[in-house]
Amino acid sequence: MADFLDPVASQMSDETFLLLRDLIYEHSGIYFSDNKKAQLENRLSLRLKANNLPDYDKYYYMLKYDPQASRELKALFDSVTTNETSFFRSPPQIQAFQEKALPEIIQHRLEKGEKVLRLWSAGCSTGDEPYTMGIILKEVLKDRLSEWDVKIYASDISEKALKSARASTYNEYTLRSVPPEIKKNYFIQNGPLFTVCDEIRSLVELQYLNFNDAKRVKLMRGFDIIFCRNVLIYFDDAAKKNFVAQLYDNLNPGGYLFIGHSESLHNISRAFKLVHFPGALGYKKE
Ligand SMILES: C[S@@+](CC[C@H](N)C(=O)[O-])C[C@H]1O[C@@H](n2cnc3c(N)ncnc32)[C@H](O)[C@@H]1O
Repeated sequence: MADFLDPVASQMSDETFLLLRDLIYEHSGIYFSDNKKAQLENRLSLRLKANNLPDYDKYYYMLKYDPQASRELKALFDSVTTNETSFFRSPPQIQAFQEKALPEIIQHRLEKGEKVLRLWSAGCSTGDEPYTMGIILKEVLKDRLSEWDVKIYASDISEKALKSARASTYNEYTLRSVPPEIKKNYFIQNGPLFTVCDEIRSLVELQYLNFNDAKRVKLMRGFDIIFCRNVLIYFDDAAKKNFVAQLYDNLNPGGYLFIGHSESLHNISRAFKLVHFPGALGYKKE
């Protein structure tokens, strides 16, 4: 059998880089700019190895023409996505969610006589974000939580990340921003690992969803709050515009979108009202 990944043979040509990056973009919206060739090459080297292929050209043709390509595409998404996340990430945003957005939404729902809450962690990675949302919901509603019809949808394009989310077991580092009381009340410790308690896990519904799948994304309707943090940075402006317009439609009037603390919707959407919270921004659908 050929000894693949010969350092010369396995280099990605500029042409193949363009073909692969267009294919990835077409299927996911994830965009590798011209200066990201080395990163893409590095991330795909393991896929070459896994498929026993000698070069990136063959890998491209397999993705493009092999009838089994959809399975490999999912493995490709696992390789090209960045799944970095943590519990209580960007604390000022979590505080804005806990102290402002969520109480406002709850009040609004109560005025309408509906004890229903629908939240979405769009690009949930290994689950840290939706479980954080669940913990905050419990902290806000306390014993009244059981009176509410609550669902936190959590979706991602990476099967690998979703598998970790389902296991819901984390190390100390991932929990570094979690206050000690919260850690004690919502996690079951087993040696160096911490598992999210069942009450919080039961609030979260994990599912595979590619944001490029417009038909399925359209079906995600009626949300009060959407977290789509640190996802848009991987898209180009055209993909960002499309997706953010869709997220606007996915929200209920009065609902909030939170994006990453270093991200902005400047030149992407004018539909939302920008709301300033201490140390954080929210995008409100009026
Ligand atoms: C950096 S993580 C952010 C996780 C979490 N939202 C946070 O802020 O901590 C970005 C996630 O977006 C997901 N993602 C990227 N492109 C996607 C797409 N087209 N459809 C669905 N999820 C996508 C990745 O798989 C990854 O898990």
